Amino acid sequence: MNDYAVLHEPYAALVRVALRQASPEGAVVALDLAAGDGHKTTWLASVAQPGAWVLALDHDRTQIACRKSSGVAYLVADAHHLPLGTAQVDLIWCIAALHLFADRAGVLDEIQRTLRPRGTVVLAVAGDYWIRRRTWPAGSVPSAMQPPEPADDLGGTLRRTVEERGFADVRIAAYLLEAADQAIEVAWMPLVDAATVQLKTVSGATGVPGLPVNIGEPEIAAVLLIVSGRKRAG
Ligand SMILES: C[S@@+](CC[C@H](N)C(=O)[O-])C[C@H]1O[C@@H](n2cnc3c(N)ncnc32)[C@H](O)[C@@H]1O
Repeated sequence: MNDYAVLHEPYAALVRVALRQASPEGAVVALDLAAGDGHKTTWLASVAQPGAWVLALDHDRTQIACRKSSGVAYLVADAHHLPLGTAQVDLIWCIAALHLFADRAGVLDEIQRTLRPRGTVVLAVAGDYWIRRRTWPAGSVPSAMQPPEPADDLGGTLRRTVEERGFADVRIAAYLLEAADQAIEVAWMPLVDAATVQLKTVSGATGVPGLPVNIGEPEIAAVLLIVSGRKRAG
């Protein structure tokens, strides 16, 4: 395991589910951009079509040299100048790396160039953010397992950055990292609003489904943000 794999390990299950929730299945060509040693590229391969061409790309040769998984091709290259043809890739993941790029807009433009029309980019970033924690009636469970947009414009700056580069269908999901070892909905439910979440209350619970019993005061918490967007069709 490299340093990133060790650092991310307590959150690995949450990050994996969150990435899968944002990713369409069946990619024929998939790219893990700034992949580090590629330990998450095997997750990408699991959402791609069997036999897909799955690439792990990083500019750090020592990272790429750490690991070799079957079914994954490894590339040493700079994210600002992808050594890939135009409109070749169905799905691109970029995890914990966007903040490291000298020219983020330029990398997003490279992602646009290399994606096929209607191809998907999924960006994951984690950090401390101001949140207001929603408390839901006891026993409430969401009727859909996909997280709706977070409340209070959480992640809005990142969303707008992606929209400004011309991506369509931009969606954002937010997860509390402190809940990484619990069911996935425990990580996103405190961050969404009544207008966006449909809840069911299990038998015997109190409270009104769909209305938070409390909205907390602003506080800082560690959050995983997942932003996805699609290249326009034409
Ligand atoms: C925090 S690590 C994340 C690695 C991996 N995505 C993960 O989640 O485990 C960030 C990675 O971005 C890579 N990176 C930074 N700038 C890059 C660039 N311009 N082109 C390609 N890779 C880059 C670094 O070498 C490093 O492996």
